[in-house]
Amino acid sequence: MKKIFVTRKLLKENEDKLKELFDVTLNANDKIYKPEEIIEQSKGFDGILSSVTDPINADTISKLSDSIKIIANGAVGFGNIDIKAAREKNITVTNTPDVLTDATADIQILLLLGASRKAYEGRLAAEKQDWKWSWDFLLGKQMSNKRLGILGMGRIGRAVAKRAKAFGMEIHYHNRSKLSSELEDGAIYHNTLKGLFEQSEFLSVNCPATPETTKIINKETLGYLKKNTVIGNAARGDVVDDDAMVEAIKNGTVFAYGLDVYNGEPKIHPEYLKLKNIFLLPHLGSATKRTRWDMAYRATRNLEQFFSGNKPQDQVN
Ligand code: DGY
Repeated sequence: MKKIFVTRKLLKENEDKLKELFDVTLNANDKIYKPEEIIEQSKGFDGILSSVTDPINADTISKLSDSIKIIANGAVGFGNIDIKAAREKNITVTNTPDVLTDATADIQILLLLGASRKAYEGRLAAEKQDWKWSWDFLLGKQMSNKRLGILGMGRIGRAVAKRAKAFGMEIHYHNRSKLSSELEDGAIYHNTLKGLFEQSEFLSVNCPATPETTKIINKETLGYLKKNTVIGNAARGDVVDDDAMVEAIKNGTVFAYGLDVYNGEPKIHPEYLKLKNIFLLPHLGSATKRTRWDMAYRATRNLEQFFSGNKPQDQVN
């Protein structure tokens, strides 16, 4: 039996399945291992089942035991792993696309709504029990019939578009390349980020974290937005320059910001915790039982395919 090192505690059903197929070492206390601990504890294993919380950079990969041939990341994003360094060391990396598309798109709508309709301030007022209905109490910005800009029109971006259409929104997007008309499904393509930002009244951030997208939302690009734009980020904290975002919120470019992901998670930029028009969630995009089960199952299937001599379905490098 192949030996698999599992970095985080999974749902019991997923752990049971892994135990049937592999000689697994689990993490019953769900400790988040430091890179040195991953290197040390995975010595002599054949593969690793990792999670978004494991930073596996080039240095860590270079120190991994030569016996490790695959890292199956239990996430669609794989910005936590240096896939080039892995390839150079002949380590296959896989992710878990598709299975979390719906859950993440749902959260993206929650972020846009929570931010635009002042859900956080509403909750604070309700908790203090010092509120009364009045004509101008906590007036938000309505999503219906607005223009939604989607940055990154992959599977999740398209699932957000589908939901947003039910709000009567007009969908615009920017991607590296224009999609087929079937995938576009009526959305309007902008070949520059500037073009997209200039049109957006709401902006949904759905691009993956890559070297090219790191801090792609920064002082300059935020400057392309109209006043009072609502932004939701269910992608990665890395794509946003937080200081520039705070400034854009304070100067009124951004009406409200909803986010589920952070630079240097679980840390959160201190200013985000002070501003009332920020709607925060702690990386809940894929947090439904169904989705988490599917993600771990898909990572397990990638390991199975790999060790039975096939190319895993979700190989990314
Ligand atoms: C992913 O799959 O990339 C998610 O962020 C995990 O919750």
